[in-house]
Amino acid sequence: MKRVSELFVGKAKSVYSTEDPDKLILEFRNDTSAFDGRKTDSLDRKGLVNNKFNAYIMQKLEAAGIPTHFEHLLSDNESVVKNLDMIPVECVVRNISAGSICRRLGVEEAQDLNPPTFEFFLKNDELHDPMINEYHIRSFGWATDQEIAKMKELTFKVNDVLKQLFLDGGMLLVDYKLEFGRYHGQIILGDEFSPDGCRLWDKDTREKLDKDRFRQGLGGVVEAYEEVARRVGLKF
Ligand SMILES: Nc1ncnc2c1ncn2[C@@H]1O[C@H](COP(=O)(O)OP(=O)(O)O)[C@@H](O)[C@H]1O
Ligand SMILES: [Mg+2]
Repeated sequence: MKRVSELFVGKAKSVYSTEDPDKLILEFRNDTSAFDGRKTDSLDRKGLVNNKFNAYIMQKLEAAGIPTHFEHLLSDNESVVKNLDMIPVECVVRNISAGSICRRLGVEEAQDLNPPTFEFFLKNDELHDPMINEYHIRSFGWATDQEIAKMKELTFKVNDVLKQLFLDGGMLLVDYKLEFGRYHGQIILGDEFSPDGCRLWDKDTREKLDKDRFRQGLGGVVEAYEEVARRVGLKF
């Protein structure tokens, strides 16, 4: 399978059409950004690490009965995925308080959240991805009731699978963001699961092993991502 034309260049990935209208090529670039694109950098090997890690996680999720867009690895930096009609909404689950929820609600970091929280955000960089609720999604036609229910169900199912997977590797899954899309009438997990879109802490030391290393200028960003991959059993 090869690239036909460039459809979209995002902050970290590029999307290409293929000869098959049902398939896309997702290129994982080394580019990284934070704070709505105000801090950017290029990190050696990040594209490769995230591409391989995402493939590994998507396959684990698929095996657990969660439909994903992942088809197969194409190269070090590219994967073939199903061409989804993306829903412009991000689904976020938090098991431990960190990041924007602490600023927004004035709550302390590192509190265990029982039950975990679920939040929707509108995918819109100019508006800084504002938090929305199910009424906004329905009223503006971004998704139907059924689709909303499915996204929530699948997002929580991902939590069950991945909390344990990371715990087995000595890590806490603090929070994560998922994006879904439609494919021949079905709601499918799209985009990526990688340390760029979740928080992972070492279980004992609480060392940050995710994109907060970049946001907070802690260094060793890709090294931490590789450590995460290694701990869940992925070899490069
Ligand atoms: N399977 C898919 N089909 C169509 N679009 C997808 C799929 N998976 C991810 N996307 C979209 O491709 C883009 C990936 O590039 P990314 O760098 O993450 O963009 P962004 O800057 O919008 O976050 C995102 O806009 C994402 O919603
Ligand atoms: Mg993205």
